[in-house]
Amino acid sequence: MIHLKSSDEIERLFEAGQIVRVVHDALEKLIAPGISTAELDAEAEAIIRRHGGIPAFKGYRGYPATICASINEEVVHGIPSPKRKLKEGDLLGIDLGVILNGWIGDAARSHVVGLGSEEAERLNRATRESLDRAIAAMTTSGRLGDIGHAIQSHVEAQGFSVVRQFVGHGVGRNLHEDPQVPNYGRRGTGMRLQEGLVLAIEPMINAGAFEVEVLEDGWTAVTVDGRLSAHWEHSIAITADGPRVLT
Ligand code: MF3
Ligand code: CO
Repeated sequence: MIHLKSSDEIERLFEAGQIVRVVHDALEKLIAPGISTAELDAEAEAIIRRHGGIPAFKGYRGYPATICASINEEVVHGIPSPKRKLKEGDLLGIDLGVILNGWIGDAARSHVVGLGSEEAERLNRATRESLDRAIAAMTTSGRLGDIGHAIQSHVEAQGFSVVRQFVGHGVGRNLHEDPQVPNYGRRGTGMRLQEGLVLAIEPMINAGAFEVEVLEDGWTAVTVDGRLSAHWEHSIAITADGPRVLT
């Protein structure tokens, strides 16, 4: 079932989304060789609570932390640890969600720590650009397949591949609402995009093959070929005036 949001509800989602944005901005400044992903997690939780929010991932299906921190071949859902210290050249994906007054914002960014390989930089840029293109496709004249097509066509043209096992989603009072939003697809197919639809679009893009597997911890998804992966995500509302990025 799809929950369309009123402009008032979109305003509340925007407020939750702005905490997500502030936390990402703060973490971005801390990212450097030597800091652990557990330290980033603690900082994220402190900022969220200071703003009156609640970490949306902590306790969700038993997830143990505020952020997901996924390094290099880790695709998504890496669990923060004091033992994981960032190194120069790492490709770090940070994903986080915030609940504010019952409404949720969800967004992810990837970063190259210090100076990275050309491949890491290219993959990260292509993934971020694919999200921008997907957002541009979120208009009331579009269809769901236009979103996946925008992502897939952009990254595959550069030799990268789209993860199939995880998808974007509706977001609102729940972290995961209908519809599922694959990061691949055909233009002009799927449901019509409507005013009030709020989606978390989250391309997960691999440098090599698209296959991923989940480690023994039950969470960390890694590329099967061990090559790099990048992840970007925004929560976006479709309005009469076009897409509105909430995060
Ligand atoms: N952005 C991811 C998602 O929407 C993060 C979920 S992590 C979890 O699926 F711990 F909350 F599951
Ligand atoms: Co999400």
